[in-house]
This record gives sequence, C-alpha cells and structure tokens, in this order.
Amino acid sequence: MPSLAKRDSCFLGLLLDMSIQPISGQTRVVGIFGDPIAHTRSPAMHNAAFRARGLPYVYVPFLVRPVDLAKAVHSIRALNLGGVNVTVPHKERIVRHLDVLSAEAELCGAVNTVVNRDGTLFGDNTDGRGFLVSLQERGLSPRRREVVLIGAGGATRSVLVSLIRAGSARAIIANRTPAKAQALARTYGALGKTRVEAVPLDVLRDPALLKNAALVVNCTSVGLHGEEFPPLAYAATPRGCLFYDLLYRPGLTPFLQQARETRRPIVDGRRMLLHQGALAFSLWTREPAPVEVMARALARALKR
Ligand code: ATR
Repeated sequence: MPSLAKRDSCFLGLLLDMSIQPISGQTRVVGIFGDPIAHTRSPAMHNAAFRARGLPYVYVPFLVRPVDLAKAVHSIRALNLGGVNVTVPHKERIVRHLDVLSAEAELCGAVNTVVNRDGTLFGDNTDGRGFLVSLQERGLSPRRREVVLIGAGGATRSVLVSLIRAGSARAIIANRTPAKAQALARTYGALGKTRVEAVPLDVLRDPALLKNAALVVNCTSVGLHGEEFPPLAYAATPRGCLFYDLLYRPGLTPFLQQARETRRPIVDGRRMLLHQGALAFSLWTREPAPVEVMARALARALKR
C-alpha cells in the first residue's frame, strides 16, 4: 500500500498530466496525425513539456484516415498549426505533400515531424536521432562498431540511416524475407563508410555472426504481444553488447528477457519515443526540451 504522501503525489502528477496550458489568442496548436490514434502517449509528454517551459502551445491527437491525408496536411497551413508529429500509417505517404525535407527524412523516405514555417511545411525525421541520443545516454557510441538490426521495414530504415551517419563500421540486417534486407543493403550500402550486409533471419543462430556485435536491435513487431522471438545466439555476443528493442510493453519483450537472462544490458523503445519527442519539441519551439519532465509524463501515461 503506497504511503499517503506518495499517493497524493501520484494523484497530483495525474492531474498535471491532464491539465494543459491556458488557451488564449496566442496559443499554437500542434499534434499528431495517425490512424489509429487513441493509444498515443505523445499528448501527455508534450503538454507536460509546454507547461514546464511556460510555452503557449497545446498538443492534440488527430485521427486522420489515409484517404484524408492530403486534406489534413493542407489544414496545417489553413489552420496555421505549429506543426505535427506523424505516425502509422502516414510516415511515408506524407512525404510527397510537404515542401522541404531534412537530409534524414529524404534518406529514410519517411517523416515523423512536420514544422509549419509561415506556410512552408518542413518535414524531418527525429526517430533515428532520438535513437542515437538513447544510445549516448547508455554510454554507447556506434562509431566504428558492428551492429545487428533485425527486420527490414520503416523502423529499420530510420535506425540504419542514423547508424551509418554515426559512422558504424558494419551493419548486418537480418530479416525473415531476405530480399527486403538485400534491398536495404543495396540502397544504403553506398551512403557512408558502413559495410551494410543482408542475411536471412535464421543466421542469427550462428555465433560467428554476433561475436563482435556492440548492439543488436529488434526493429520488428515480434514480441509485442509476448510471442516467441526467433532463435538467436545471445551468449555469443561480447558481454557489453547492448540489446535494444524498439518495442515496449508492460514487462519485458521475449527478446529483452532472453538478453537479460544472458546478463547483457538492455533498453526498450520508450527511450527512443522520449528522445524523438524531445527533438520534435525543439523543432517547434526552438527551445531545449525538458527531457526529464517528458520522461516522467510518459512513464505515468504508459501506466494508465
Ligand atoms: P515498421 O515500419 O514498423 O518497421 P514494417 O515495415 O511492417 O513495420 O516491418 C515489419 C518488420 O517486422 C519486417 O521486417 C517483417 O519481416 P518481413 O519483411 O519478412 O515481413 C518483420 N516481421 C513481422 N512479423 C514477423 C515475424 N512473425 N517473424 C519475423 N519477422 C517479422
């Protein structure tokens, strides 16, 4: 049974999460486009940040059906929104509706943050940079290191581009459908100095593949509902190898569970969610993000 003081402070936190900055004629509206959207925790995280910084912004969820995407993008200009985050299923399809793209968004072919600069829509992708910040906070620099990425979809692309830009020596992409991994290796192999290689998923059983890995990332959706993860030679990795699951769920995913049983360091997708959000906050407001405030709001929102 939590103490009264602890219960009161939890309740206060909850109330704060539900409150927003006072709305006035100066208020800028930002938000998130997605379908579905009801599950999003981003409003809690961003509204807590605006409150902490005393900024006149409010962040709201927008349910945008794929068929309405062009109209929704147009409304960013028409309603003078400050910008939006973009999530499934719009990240790739929104690209063609924007005016300017960052180098990352261009390379990934996907946008997760739009900034409205006087009617010009700038598309950026903060997922990969958020991922790199979360590695940094774990003391891992991917420069000149070997990394293993599992999966070959949009999430892999963001992570791969960030690791190439950060100067990884070798990136091995393991995927159930090898042709998709090969396509990524072809597209991104010439981008930087990173050697990008594609392998089928069952090669993850091979200790030789993992013996120099500094980082192994699950970029698939396998384990979101607790389903078994494909066999992987966890114990063949160096002791300090970081196992990173882009997913998060209450309790550990099977991928992270096995890594922990092998006594390897682990991190889940909440840190990437936090840092991509912190970077988006700074793009909209041009102010440093109150990262700890955002982390606390996110943690509370995920408990609900
Ligand atoms: P995202 O944009 O989140 O990356 P995605 O583009 O749908 O999502 O990609 C999902 C990834 O998870 C793919 O690499 C997919 O493998 P395939 O390319 O073979 O489809 C992988 N994936 C999904 N379910 C899987 C499963 N049961 N076993 C192995 N890989 C799976």
